[in-house]
Amino acid sequence: MTLKSVQAVILAAGKSSRFKTGKTKLVEKICGQEMILYPVSLLVDLKLPVTVVVGFQKELVEKTITRQFSHDVTFVHQTEQLGTGHAIACSQSTWTRDHILIMNGDMPLINADIVKKLYERHIQKDAAISFVTAHNCDPSAAGYGRVIKASDSIEIIEAKEFKGDTSESCCINAGIYLVKRTFLEENIQDLQQSAIAQEWYITDLIKIASDKKLGVETISASFDCIRGINTFKELWAAEQIKKSEIIQHWMDHGVHFSIAHNVQIDLNVTIGTGTFIGSGAHLLTGTKVGKNCTIDAFSILKNSVIKDGASVLSHCVVSNATIEESAEVGPFAHVHEKSIIQEKAVIGNFVEVKKSTVGQESKVKHLSYIGDAKIGKRVNIGAGTITCNYNGTDKFKTIVEDDVFIGSNNTLIAPVTIKKHSFCAAGSTITKDVPEHALAIARERQTNKEGYARNLRKPKTAKESDDKEATQPFFAAFKSNDFKNNSETGI
Ligand code: UD1
Ligand code: CA
Repeated sequence: MTLKSVQAVILAAGKSSRFKTGKTKLVEKICGQEMILYPVSLLVDLKLPVTVVVGFQKELVEKTITRQFSHDVTFVHQTEQLGTGHAIACSQSTWTRDHILIMNGDMPLINADIVKKLYERHIQKDAAISFVTAHNCDPSAAGYGRVIKASDSIEIIEAKEFKGDTSESCCINAGIYLVKRTFLEENIQDLQQSAIAQEWYITDLIKIASDKKLGVETISASFDCIRGINTFKELWAAEQIKKSEIIQHWMDHGVHFSIAHNVQIDLNVTIGTGTFIGSGAHLLTGTKVGKNCTIDAFSILKNSVIKDGASVLSHCVVSNATIEESAEVGPFAHVHEKSIIQEKAVIGNFVEVKKSTVGQESKVKHLSYIGDAKIGKRVNIGAGTITCNYNGTDKFKTIVEDDVFIGSNNTLIAPVTIKKHSFCAAGSTITKDVPEHALAIARERQTNKEGYARNLRKPKTAKESDDKEATQPFFAAFKSNDFKNNSETGI
């Protein structure tokens, strides 16, 4: 369905004072996407020309929108925040089509069906102005404008002006209006400033149309779809709704959630069928998870690609990284900054991989740091191995070629290349390239001092037992002066 002769205006200039952050609420995120982008993307998808009225922190709002919709949106400036009626008046120079769809910028749960239904009713009834209502008697809805209907009149009374009982008057104004351009042009100047709020209310247009016996139409929508976000409490409630919509969508597409209610899945995430998502997992902006993957409890994935059959076990952080088919990461691993874990590779506990590639079937299973490195295929990196990639000024690369075995507790001082099929003995500090098929050993030879251990544990004299320090064999050895210096004891 095309919404012919309609253009849209989104009101996004307000001060967001009820958020109490000093920052515009319109860039607060809901499921990873800024609040203002929900109505903007909805209206751009409906192929409507969109004008956004900006004012308070306009650069921030404009930047957020143009980052995603550089060509589809124009901006007008409301220099002073004098209310929604004043805001729409500021957009007058952009009105060209026959009907103007006006929407508050703070309603992220709105959907296309509501807009289409409003359009159908407005056109069918040839109304001057049509708007969306919802039903809510809850005190938490006390801030909404009340829709007061009588046999031959209709008006919206703003919360600040409303004297009646809000639990009796449960019909509220959603904040979406479709207005004939001619009606708007002829009546926008007649709005009066509210004596209480010192603002011009867009909602007074309803009474103006009603008093002139021009057609006013309403459609009703579910309250959850039209929630306006004025406070952090309302933001939280809206995010719960959006989150459960997203999770139910993926459930319908064959994704298995163990404890769905504490999982976070952002809006622009994709998940393949047969994938398991554990309790408390966070799949954040830009993440793509393939088919039959496991994302276990409390792992956080951001802007990463997890290919088919891969597993991210519990308590991992994976950001800006790729985990290829059937690879395994975790538990307790950190893979980030463009790292690639190739097919069937294994990254185990307490391993950090930064700006590195770990090749097919390679293993880094315990307590390691792999930074600025390229690890080939079928490599084993022993526990506690560290790539020393940084000298305080510059970063250097470590290259470990295919089929290399690095024993435990190696220190690989970059730049360094460990060539194919070579072997680095445990505990080595590797400073030079290792040739193909070589064994590198770079550690202090062991010396055994025969009998020295007895001196460390010699029987206590009565005096030494009285001496607190001397009760510890370590200090006793020093006091007894049996050893000439530290280098001899190795302490
Ligand atoms: C508004 C409606 C209310 C409705 C509710 C639905 C008015 C007067 N009241 O109240 O009837 O029930 O929405 O959520 O419209 N804005 C500007 N310039 C301004 C003031 C606001 O652009 O000078 C923008 C805000 O950024 C916001 C939108 O207009 O996106 C609505 O303003 P807000 O202050 O949130 O209105 P409500 O008090 O919620
Ligand atoms: Ca609002």
